[in-house]
Amino acid sequence: MLELERVVKHYHEAEEEVRAVDGVSLKIESGELVALYGPSGSGKTTLLLLIAALLKPDEGVIRYAGRDLSSLSQREASEYLLHDVGFIFQNFHLMPKVSALENAARKLLLGGSGMRQAQARAIPWLERVGLGDRMRHAPEKLSGGERQRVAIARALAGEPDLILADEPTGNLDSARSREIIELLHTIAHERGACVLLVTHDEDAAAIADRRCVLRDGRLLESSTGGDAREPSASAVVAGEDRVEAS
Ligand SMILES: Nc1ncnc2c1ncn2[C@@H]1O[C@H](COP(=O)(O)OP(=O)(O)OP(=O)(O)O)[C@@H](O)[C@H]1O
Ligand SMILES: [Mg+2]
Repeated sequence: MLELERVVKHYHEAEEEVRAVDGVSLKIESGELVALYGPSGSGKTTLLLLIAALLKPDEGVIRYAGRDLSSLSQREASEYLLHDVGFIFQNFHLMPKVSALENAARKLLLGGSGMRQAQARAIPWLERVGLGDRMRHAPEKLSGGERQRVAIARALAGEPDLILADEPTGNLDSARSREIIELLHTIAHERGACVLLVTHDEDAAAIADRRCVLRDGRLLESSTGGDAREPSASAVVAGEDRVEAS
């Protein structure tokens, strides 16, 4: 369903070149939840932005549902982002001064739903992430974890088939984190979505179908999840151990 072949992305900054993503090949099938680990600066967000067609690779190919993303026109890329992709951004990207509900309904509105229908579809998602009693609050009046959950509801409300979640539980307590990770797991397994989840969370390690590790833009071995012999996610991130392919 999602396929990356030797994808490279460089950034040029003050005459320095950063190879943020350096030859990554990866396949994720429908119905699979893949956890992506890696230290800060290892290229995780860049990889997600490439898959969302928000960045173009310098080399390599990214295919989603058989389509080469680099062949999409600007309009097709926007449609892809709107309809196929649910992106949970690391820094939320919420609209200020409008309610949690309007934020959560935003993609549905952009996708052509009327206001009433968009809000009716967004409400159950806000409830599902535990914000049923905060729908009228603007982001400025929400806690960091609540903002994060609005961003999750917005990404999931359109029922996208490809979910790119950039540390979606970074601001949540462990009980909430577990709920969100279980929700993503259910969406992958019951609805057949592809889920790529950047996380440092141990619960995600246990629940993921596969784990991948990025270091310096390179994908190290991936492994199946839930295996007691595997090193812990934090050990992987800290570089204390290598994940051996099982
Ligand atoms: N817009 C940009 N311009 C120049 N360099 C960038 C840009 N965005 C990211 N980088 C660099 O690319 C590398 C990868 O960054 P990226 O944000 O993908 O890492 P990350 O793994 O998501 O890190 P974190 O865990 O801190 O979120 C870093 O070295 C970063 O400094
Ligand atoms: Mg990041």
